[in-house]
Amino acid sequence: MLIKTHSDGFLHPASSEITPQRVYAGRRDMVKLMASGVAGVALATWAGREAMAQGSGKLAPLVGAKSAVAGATVTEKLTPYKDATTYNNFYEFGTDKADPAQNAGTLKTTPWTVEIEGLVKKPAKYTLEDLLKLAPMEERIYRLRCVEGWSMVIPWVGYSLSALIKAVEPTSGAKFVEFVTLADSKTMPFVGSRVLQWPYVEGLRMDEAMHPLALLTFGMYGEVLPNQSGAPVRMVLPWKYGFKSGKSIVKIRFTDKQPATAWNKAAANEYGFYSNVNPNVDHPRWSQATERRIGEDGLFAKKRKTLMFNGYEAQVGQLYAGLDLQKNF
Ligand code: MTE
Repeated sequence: MLIKTHSDGFLHPASSEITPQRVYAGRRDMVKLMASGVAGVALATWAGREAMAQGSGKLAPLVGAKSAVAGATVTEKLTPYKDATTYNNFYEFGTDKADPAQNAGTLKTTPWTVEIEGLVKKPAKYTLEDLLKLAPMEERIYRLRCVEGWSMVIPWVGYSLSALIKAVEPTSGAKFVEFVTLADSKTMPFVGSRVLQWPYVEGLRMDEAMHPLALLTFGMYGEVLPNQSGAPVRMVLPWKYGFKSGKSIVKIRFTDKQPATAWNKAAANEYGFYSNVNPNVDHPRWSQATERRIGEDGLFAKKRKTLMFNGYEAQVGQLYAGLDLQKNF
């Protein structure tokens, strides 16, 4: 995000194929795993899947029931799969928007474990299979607003992070949740570059992490996540700027101290801990009042107004009652 972009302010995806052959080949194990039935619970069909966009058609299906959580589904037009999976930020694979789709084929997602540690009564190492079975899969259509000024509308598949938090029983001392993501220099060519300190770390206050909209995410567009989107498991926090949603999570740590997060460490005056979408607080180098919808709004289209908390104020506003949002940006 600190990276210089083209003169129009955006980096454009290459017209390359969404899932190159080698990426596909590298994911066969995952596909087998899903087909073997461990994800059986997740494959329940949702009858009225009207406005469903197509996935790649190459990845294992991962379908969720329509979520009953308030605000979990917006009715705006979905961003085409191709745009959502070729215009990405995943700096471990490069800083150009097209890099993750081109380079993330090397990411090895099986076997995968997520370690739960810190201030919990039941620390554990969850395999991906365990996580897939922990709670019923839901489909949620969320807006995602990037701090760079673009947004997308994506049908994610997962369940509320709160289900996992309840299972591990945090102690009363646990005030924050830290998400540590994979940093494997053998498979991630940009780990080691000096853009950020690796691993990419993110964090939430405990009440934010417990909010039902905070989604532990395994899939999108009715399929498992493609590598470039943070396979096999990532967070999606629709009321916060996209960088709070860590990809390819390997550790979730419960702490009594506010975690030092990757972008905050890189530029504390530009990227605060909260990073709630807020059209009234500009980034020091650009306005946050408007946004461009990827795949819909051309470069010369009138920009859309950015909404407070990205449009989720009714759901999450209470979490920040009394907090000075100018200071706590
Ligand atoms: N997670 C990791 N591990 N590494 C990253 O570089 N980029 C973040 C976030 N999660 C990032 C990450 C940023 S800046 C954004 S906007 C979102 O992922 C992008 O998610 P998307 O590519 O699915 O749109």
